[in-house]
Amino acid sequence: MARNPIIAALDVPTAEAALELAKKIAPAVGGFKIGSELFTAAGPDIVRRIRATGSAVFLDLKFHDIPNTVAGAVASAVRLDVQMLTVHASGGADMLKAAEQSAQETAWELGHAPPLVLGVTLLTSLDSHALSQIGFDPNVGRQVRRLANMATQGGLRGLVCSPLEVAELRQILTAGVQLVTPGIRPETHPADDQKRTLSPREAIAAGANWLVIGRPICAAPDPRAAAEKILESLTQVRHLV
Ligand code: C5P
Repeated sequence: MARNPIIAALDVPTAEAALELAKKIAPAVGGFKIGSELFTAAGPDIVRRIRATGSAVFLDLKFHDIPNTVAGAVASAVRLDVQMLTVHASGGADMLKAAEQSAQETAWELGHAPPLVLGVTLLTSLDSHALSQIGFDPNVGRQVRRLANMATQGGLRGLVCSPLEVAELRQILTAGVQLVTPGIRPETHPADDQKRTLSPREAIAAGANWLVIGRPICAAPDPRAAAEKILESLTQVRHLV
């Protein structure tokens, strides 16, 4: 059977809420994303507690600092035994290399598989105007391609990108690069504050490997049923992940 590509975002403010939600939906998803909100409230212990249930964890703290500091943060994440973590690709080539190297070395020391270090290309909240304010190339596509190339040349084996960038990135990246995408909305679900979305099925068909899904699952009246329905919608494309 193909693996389950759904990563449910545990965007809740307490450990109790996260554990309760995780318990409900674990059988219907491939893992859980722990981001800044939950991690800042509940600390590394929530990562250990979710891992202790047997579920995979994607630690989405988007590290962006000098290479030495990011290497240390990545090593700490590897010790928590997470399966994926994020760094900002705009942190630069040296920072990206340090992150990947730290993941490999720390995992080797511990005797387990290294997590997938994912480079966040561009935050989907940044438009052309915001990019030129920062001093980046205002062409979103070009800036994403530049960061994606830099990240993969630096050794990263995965990227986070908007679902609308997946097809284009697939053209320029080697086949083994894992693409993880938020901004996923089933056809029947409102967009919320996400502006550029694809349905789960469209995103997988375009070449995404993993789908990060928050509110369409976690804020649904029956989160388990919502996750199962999304998984069902993927039956014809799951072989692609
Ligand atoms: O609720 P929703 O499905 O929009 O949640 C998407 C998750 O992915 C949230 O945790 C959000 O922080 C994260 N994310 C995103 N866009 C990015 C990067 C991360 O929506 N560019």
